[in-house]
Amino acid sequence: MTSTPAASRGTLLIINGPNLNLLGTREPEIYGRATLSDVEHLATAAAEAAGFGATCLQSNHEGALVDAIHAARGSAVGIIINAGAYTHTSVALRDAIAGVELPAVEVHISNVHQREEFRHHSYLSPVCTAVIVGAGVHGYELAVSVLDKALAPAQS
Ligand code: DQA
Repeated sequence: MTSTPAASRGTLLIINGPNLNLLGTREPEIYGRATLSDVEHLATAAAEAAGFGATCLQSNHEGALVDAIHAARGSAVGIIINAGAYTHTSVALRDAIAGVELPAVEVHISNVHQREEFRHHSYLSPVCTAVIVGAGVHGYELAVSVLDKALAPAQS
């Protein structure tokens, strides 16, 4: 886990799930050549440019991801999550996101809708503010931009 110093607009929790630690070498024809570290750096830079801090976490364990989402309540103002394959299987992650009542953006590097049928369903999408698929690793920066708007003070 990496964290930036506290920032004026609070912290975004950036979560990557199973197998995303292999980015850069895992099926590069699908996921590209950027590593997890590259992704975390670009998402953190986008968060900092918008006035947020960032905490980045990757785990291959469903329970660790649930725990991280729970810990976000009180320590983060929004969540960016690429839950990898747990997207398509995990009611527990969906319930965790719903339970903490923070704006969350679901990201997938690949266009899951162009892939196998089992990747077309997400348990997370109904409880997320937005879903970004198929934009490559740029999707993480787009997700910051969504939270930047969602967390902007209301204009009178
Ligand atoms: C993924 C898509 C998932 O279907 C897959 O299991 C992943 C990565 C993506 O970023 O495109 O691990 O979430």
